[in-house]
Amino acid sequence: MERSCLLSPGCKCDESFEKAFSFTPEEIINIVKESGLRGRGGAGFPTGMKWEFASKAAGEKKYVICNADEGEPGTFKDRVLLTDSIDKLIQGMVIAGYAIGSNYGIIYLRGEYKWMLDYLNKKFDEMKEQNYLGKDILNKDFDFDIEIKLNAGAYVCGEETALLESIEGKRGEPRNKPPFPVQKGYMGFPTVINNVETLCNIPYIISHGVAEFKKYGTQQSCGTKLFSISGDCAKPGVYEVDLGIKINELLDMVGATNTKAVQIGGASGATACEKEFDREVCFEGFPPGGSIIIFNKSRNMARVLKNFIDFFEEESCGQCTPCREGTYRLNQSVDKIIQTGKLSDEEMNTMLELAEVMKTSSKCGLGQTAANPFIDIPGKFREDF
Ligand SMILES: Cc1cc2nc3c(=O)[nH]c(=O)nc-3n(C[C@H](O)[C@H](O)[C@H](O)COP(=O)(O)O)c2cc1C
Ligand code: SF4
Repeated sequence: MERSCLLSPGCKCDESFEKAFSFTPEEIINIVKESGLRGRGGAGFPTGMKWEFASKAAGEKKYVICNADEGEPGTFKDRVLLTDSIDKLIQGMVIAGYAIGSNYGIIYLRGEYKWMLDYLNKKFDEMKEQNYLGKDILNKDFDFDIEIKLNAGAYVCGEETALLESIEGKRGEPRNKPPFPVQKGYMGFPTVINNVETLCNIPYIISHGVAEFKKYGTQQSCGTKLFSISGDCAKPGVYEVDLGIKINELLDMVGATNTKAVQIGGASGATACEKEFDREVCFEGFPPGGSIIIFNKSRNMARVLKNFIDFFEEESCGQCTPCREGTYRLNQSVDKIIQTGKLSDEEMNTMLELAEVMKTSSKCGLGQTAANPFIDIPGKFREDF
């Protein structure tokens, strides 16, 4: 893992600023498209394409929002980037602004990270002194400033349209899509919303070039990825690895033994059982979220499932029926399984049908993925049910 660029202060990323302004905005967008960078916030949407949509959208103003809500259970890699690599994030946001024609940046910061505010504001001041932020950046006749807005603690506010509602001072509930934020985002203006890690990749791509970025990862999942790894292992922490790494390799790296299950991508992600440990973590394999939680053989997976389902029932904003009622009913079934040790085939089939309805008809990603652990865990860990 020698080229740990996202986390390393020693790499050449500072050069990216000078270099970025030597390109036109269209050229920057093409570089990001060619790099194959996909969003690191969960859905893996191609970043260059997102920027292109926003750059082409009509709007008197445009916004770049960094999603630093980091509410997924087990995820803490953005916190490390915000404290250890904030210069990369600022550069990523300024370059995004230059590319799409925006002069305004907002960091939507997880409420629990309020303690970072003084540090982040100090960093903004330093960048302004160096002429990397604020008015007339590097004397290139381009202004870009960043402000911070704090979340108040709801997981759903990390969903991009609920985030917009929250920043606008309204109740944080997801909007209908379309229109997408790139068309009509913050205050109705075209807005690019990117995860912290996505934006931190930009200086590397600009300064080192597309070919260097693509040396790592797989064909459909280019570059490296940060994982917050926790649970039953000797060395939990934040790791930067190539996308496409095998689950077994990850387990060796963090000193995990006697492993029963690996939960990849947070509560709504996928759970791998032992016979899947030779599979790859990438967009074409086990989809990479921010978190990896390891469970050893002493853990009861029915209890793990119960924790996840409780979380979704609690965090559902209640706006749409499939998610509000679905998470409640799934939770009732999990309780029944835990209490009686069984669920009839008929009841199980009804629940699996409900899971399908939630996936296809919930309004936002929370409801669309809340049933994932229910679909995954009982079938793979029958001995615990
Ligand atoms: C319930 C829910 C919570 C989310 N929380 C976050 C979050 O904390 N951080 C994040 O970057 N994306 C989160 N997302 C994904 C965002 O909606 C959005 O896709 C992402 O910020 C886009 O950035 P990217 O293209 O760089 O990945 C969440 C999505 C859902 C459905
Ligand atoms: S899917 Fe759930 S969280 Fe999303 S809008 Fe519907 S009720 Fe709210």
